[in-house]
Amino acid sequence: MRPFVFINLASSLDGKISNERREQVRISSPEDFEVVDRLRAESDAVMVGIGTIISDDPKLTVKSEELKMVRLEKGLKANPTRVVVDSRCRIPLSSHTLNDEAETIVAVSRRADREKVEKLRQKAEVFVAGEERVNLRALLEHLYSRGIRKVMVEGGGELNHSLIKDGLVDEFRVFYSGMIIGGKNSPTPVDGGSFETPVKAELKSYEVLGNGIAVIWRLC
Ligand SMILES: NC(=O)c1ccc[n+]([C@@H]2O[C@H](COP(=O)([O-])OP(=O)(O)OC[C@H]3O[C@@H](n4cnc5c(N)ncnc54)[C@H](OP(=O)(O)O)[C@@H]3O)[C@@H](O)[C@H]2O)c1
Repeated sequence: MRPFVFINLASSLDGKISNERREQVRISSPEDFEVVDRLRAESDAVMVGIGTIISDDPKLTVKSEELKMVRLEKGLKANPTRVVVDSRCRIPLSSHTLNDEAETIVAVSRRADREKVEKLRQKAEVFVAGEERVNLRALLEHLYSRGIRKVMVEGGGELNHSLIKDGLVDEFRVFYSGMIIGGKNSPTPVDGGSFETPVKAELKSYEVLGNGIAVIWRLC
C-alpha cells in the first residue's frame, strides 16, 4: 500500500520550472502561493529531490499561522513531515530542511557514505532503500506504514520523472504563470529520458489564480 501522491509545481508559460543556472525563480502568483500553502497544510508529507534542496534550500513548512493552528487543533504537528530523496546522502547538515520546525526523513540508497549517514541520523530519520538510486516504491510503502496517506511532491523535474515512470503519481497540479524563462537547458516539470509511450492524463479542474492558471490532471 502507498499514499495518495500528487505533484505540485509552478511552470513558466514556456514550460520551465527554473532557469539554466538552476536558481530559484519566483514563478507562482501570490494567489497560487496561498493555495499551495493550503495544499501543503492538508498533506501528511512533502517530498523533494536532493537537486531541489541544493538549488533552493527550501524550508518546506506551512507559512500561514492560521493553517498551522488548524493542523494543531486536529491533533497533528504544525507542519507535515518533510521527505528528501537523496541516494548519496549529499544533503548539507545546515540545510533549512533539517531545521527543527518539522520532522524530516531522508531516503538514501545503499551507496550512501556510512559516516555521512551516521551524522545525518542526529538531525533526521534516515530510510535506506535501493542499491544505486532510492527505491521510490519502497519509500512510499514505508511512509504509508508510518500513517502517511497524502504526499505532496514539490519537485524537481528528475524526481517527478522517476515517480511517473514507476506509476507512483495520482495527480499533477501545475500553475502556468505569465512569464517566459527560456533556455533550452532550463529544468522542466518532468526531466529525464522521454517515455516509450506518452503517459496520459485526464483534466480534473482548472482555476485562474492572478496572472496564471492552475490545472489539475489525473494520471491514467
Ligand atoms: N518551479 C517549481 O515548482 C520547482 C519546484 C522544485 C524545484 N524546482 C527547480 O528544479 C530544479 C531541481 O530539479 P532537479 O531535477 O535538478 O532535481 P530533483 O528532482 O529535486 O532531485 C533529483 C535528484 O534526486 C536524487 N534521486 C535519488 N533517487 C532518485 C530517484 N529514484 N529518481 C530520481 N532522482 C533521485 C538524484 O540525485 P542522487 O543520485 O545524488 O541522489 C537526482 O539527481 C531546481 O532548479 C529547482 O529550482 C522548481
